[in-house]
Amino acid sequence: VIDIRKLYADTGMFTYDPGFTSTASCESGLTYIDGDEGILLHRGYPIDQLAEQSSFMEVSYLLLRGELPSKAELEEFTRTITRHTMVHEQLTTFYRGFRRDAHPMAIMCGVVGALSAFYHDSTDINDPMQRRIASHRLIAKMPTIAAMAYKYSVGQPFVYPRNDLSYTGNFLNMTFSVPAEEYVVDPVIEDAMDKIFILHADHEQNASTSTVRLAGSSGANPFACIAAGIACLWGPAHGGANEAALNMLREIGTVDRIPEYIARAKNKDDPFRLMGFGHRVYKNYDPRAKVMQKTANEVLTKLGVTDPIFDVARELEQIALNDPYFVEKKLYPNVDFYSGIILSAIGFPTEMFTVLFALARTVGWVAQWNEMISDPAQKIGRPRQLYTGPTQRDYVPVDKR
Ligand code: ACO
Repeated sequence: VIDIRKLYADTGMFTYDPGFTSTASCESGLTYIDGDEGILLHRGYPIDQLAEQSSFMEVSYLLLRGELPSKAELEEFTRTITRHTMVHEQLTTFYRGFRRDAHPMAIMCGVVGALSAFYHDSTDINDPMQRRIASHRLIAKMPTIAAMAYKYSVGQPFVYPRNDLSYTGNFLNMTFSVPAEEYVVDPVIEDAMDKIFILHADHEQNASTSTVRLAGSSGANPFACIAAGIACLWGPAHGGANEAALNMLREIGTVDRIPEYIARAKNKDDPFRLMGFGHRVYKNYDPRAKVMQKTANEVLTKLGVTDPIFDVARELEQIALNDPYFVEKKLYPNVDFYSGIILSAIGFPTEMFTVLFALARTVGWVAQWNEMISDPAQKIGRPRQLYTGPTQRDYVPVDKR
């Protein structure tokens, strides 16, 4: 009998790293994270500077092309993206096939995957021009697809893209305007939304980005790869955390109930976790959470919303940051802790939160996918395993078992 475990002896060095906590799967020049110091840089630029001073279109250009654009380059890029915001009219029939109460992330997985059936002329991954067009299409159409998912869920007619509005303004208009009523995009909300998009644009080799790269490594077309990324993002430990964090804050409801939830989070027999706390890489304050907290303050003030959930969040943060359990495990608020409060104040239902994350992350996924395809060292992603099943044995006919 062959002991299959012995076979590993012939393959040289072999690492076992569940969750890839210390294995680099690629080289990348897009995003740098120092989790101990709480630093996040895109192409060298600190995230707080980009969120405060740049725009989502500019950050998209930066991630895709490697440098900040000149004024003319930014205008040209924005014009190109704007030209691609429409989706094929037949795609609307795809939506109508879903149940009215379908989760919009379920719709997103299906509709984005279906784009490869509509845009055959940009699925050849070996043609740089086709790759560029596919990238532009994905970034441009995600707001349209996301807004349509929302409109479908509330039973309102789809709103077509408007090319006279900004990327983010157009998305807000497609989401919140209704026929026969004037809707003017509020600049404070537009600015906050644009910041949220910037803060979610890329985050190196997280689960969904790794999924996009793994799918892409087999040569799958970009639309299929981004659909795979959306599916992975949906999980509550990843992109679904903003929805889960807001639901948790609502459940806590008042400041006096916080200790009960802190105690639950510390109890090893209780699977409960403080949603919006902790991060695989950040063992310090997530730099995106800082911007998010400030933006939440601005939006609530501007809208005149006095949401008690914001008080619960701030108090919870203070209590957790001073609790020995959270201090010892280096659990700090992450990007999702405050984003739900802002999105809720703007008027998005919780089911849309992860959709908005997917919308923004598309640029990171697309940039990472392009980087991977252009990398001569790239191979098909094919992790190995440590086999723990039975050793070789002989088949036993069913009447002898
Ligand atoms: N509440 C309470 N305890 C926690 C939390 C939390 N939110 N997060 C981690 N811990 C504890 C774990 O129980 C574990 O304790 P132990 O060492 O005694 O077993 C320890 O801290 C380490 O946790 P791991 O799960 O091993 O850390 P990992 O890096 O695998 O997980 C994760 C990171 C998934 C983000 C985790 O912190 C978590 O589940 N957080 C809540 C969900 C969340 O907010 N996700 C959003 C992530 S950001 C993003 O995707 C954009």
